Amino acid sequence: MLNDMACILLTRDEIAKRVAEIGGELSALYQNEERPIFLCVLKGSVVFFADLIRAVDLPIDIEFMSASSYGAATVSSGEVKVVSALDEKIRGRNVVLVEDIIDSGRTIAYIKSDMLKKGVKSLKVVTLLDKPSRREADVTPDISGFEVPDEFVVGYGLDYDQKYRNFPDIGILKPEIYGG
Ligand code: IMP
Ligand code: MG
Repeated sequence: MLNDMACILLTRDEIAKRVAEIGGELSALYQNEERPIFLCVLKGSVVFFADLIRAVDLPIDIEFMSASSYGAATVSSGEVKVVSALDEKIRGRNVVLVEDIIDSGRTIAYIKSDMLKKGVKSLKVVTLLDKPSRREADVTPDISGFEVPDEFVVGYGLDYDQKYRNFPDIGILKPEIYGG
């Protein structure tokens, strides 16, 4: 997989250090609050999610939902499909939405408004990566791990056409791999 990368943007050690910091920040934030639900937005967030929840030193609940707007492309279609929602479980709860990357912001904007309609008590958005240069929807994460340039990145859960999710670092994919 390394051969398909133009370069490594973030190493596993850099990621681990930042994930530990975010876990500490969230532990402090929810220390005196009702037990939060950490909600994993599949599939891209799954690796970050697994590391993050173990960096939080508090009782929490975990849930999963699917959202996809890409298919086999590197540009968001803008059409967000929420495959499974969890209306009853999240009503009245403190929800921490865990995303891999915020790009156009359409996915998170859609999920956010949907959650607020469903009556969550509070909602915080945590993203590992943020590509603010490509933002179209008016959303800002409450916590972001790293700001990344306008390049297509893969690894640590992030895919191109379902590949590279199991690559342990985060790399910039060679444009020839996706015909760019
Ligand atoms: P948005 O709706 O444009 O913000 O897209 C968010 C989703 O697109 C993320 O959750 C990722 O699954 C995917 N995505 C955006 N940029 C990248 C990238 O550089 N690499 C891999 N997936 C990406
Ligand atoms: Mg995603």
